[in-house]
Amino acid sequence: MKLLVLGGTAWLGHEVARQAVGRGHQVTCVTRGLSGPIPDGASHIQSDRDADHGLEAVSAVHWDAVLDVSRQPGHVKRAVRDLRSADYYVFVSSVSVYANHGPLGQDEDAPLLPPLESEVMETMETYGEAKAACEKAVLEGLGAERCMIARVGLIGGPGDIFGRTGYWPMRFANPSVEDGTVLVPNAPSLPVQVIDVRDLAAWLVQNCEGQLSGVYNATGEKHSFAEHIAAAREVAGHQGQLAVADAEWLHRHGVQEWAGPKSLPLWLSDPEWQGMNARSNMRAKGAGLVLRPLEETLRDTLEWEESTGIEKPRRAGLTKNEEAELIPELG
Ligand SMILES: NC(=O)c1ccc[n+]([C@@H]2O[C@H](COP(=O)([O-])OP(=O)(O)OC[C@H]3O[C@@H](n4cnc5c(N)ncnc54)[C@H](OP(=O)(O)O)[C@@H]3O)[C@@H](O)[C@H]2O)c1
Repeated sequence: MKLLVLGGTAWLGHEVARQAVGRGHQVTCVTRGLSGPIPDGASHIQSDRDADHGLEAVSAVHWDAVLDVSRQPGHVKRAVRDLRSADYYVFVSSVSVYANHGPLGQDEDAPLLPPLESEVMETMETYGEAKAACEKAVLEGLGAERCMIARVGLIGGPGDIFGRTGYWPMRFANPSVEDGTVLVPNAPSLPVQVIDVRDLAAWLVQNCEGQLSGVYNATGEKHSFAEHIAAAREVAGHQGQLAVADAEWLHRHGVQEWAGPKSLPLWLSDPEWQGMNARSNMRAKGAGLVLRPLEETLRDTLEWEESTGIEKPRRAGLTKNEEAELIPELG
């Protein structure tokens, strides 16, 4: 298969290109070359998709499949225009396209945000609207039969530079205080859904091979926060106590939710957001998505965290000092 990856230097795009090369496909990646190297065995075309003719170098080639990870409606509209002769197009979207994140278990027919009208997403505030506009451009421009939309949920696994899925196993393996206590939010029944980057990439490559069409939630298995924490403790061999803090206490002490500095990753306290990580993945599983056990993802992510240095600056979680200051205050 001749596969064009629009991306390939960042996390998921790189893994897709890597696996596709491993399966003997001829892979070409188009990027600016700013986010990292492409995998060995793939070809790289350096180009900026912000330019109107950014895909000129690849538009005359016949592609068996195209896979696009962009979030910019202009990129996707121009790709649909310039790659019209491709047999098949996968657009990597996000569950952020949905209008409501409160209800649990929603499937692909749930209402969407209005598509962004602008060609350029200026800030992440309109990420969901931008992805909705990208989806619309692909479906309307190419026709539903020869494209696939993968609405991806939280991605985890080795290489998670966002630090959301690495934090918990890393922290349980490396507690901030001597007696091994770890600070956790009091949110045992909060849903958590992590899809391993390797499982997601394998399914996307498989779909390019089989040209599966349709719209799919590509999300991990649903677990409760308590189960997620138990799995992280198990892979880390954690024997210490949990210091369980209520949302009100954490907010008062400046601890953020979900991600970012001074945060407890994956924690969400607002019931209006609890369904974001509890989407139905039945359709994708029925179409061949195979998910490995959460423990395996967390074990391999811990190994990656340790191999890249646990003292590295993090994009999610508490630093050792922050946690060591908070735990005694909780009492
Ligand atoms: N992480 C999550 O938990 C999560 C959740 C839901 C959905 N998603 C979706 O999953 C996908 C993740 O993809 P990814 O990990 O490969 O990361 P990404 O950060 O979305 O990758 C963007 C890719 O596009 C390239 N690019 C960006 N601007 C460009 C431009 N102007 N011209 C040409 N190339 C450009 C980048 O390469 P250069 O910088 O080298 O140009 C990079 O390879 C995205 O579609 C994301 O929206 C992620």
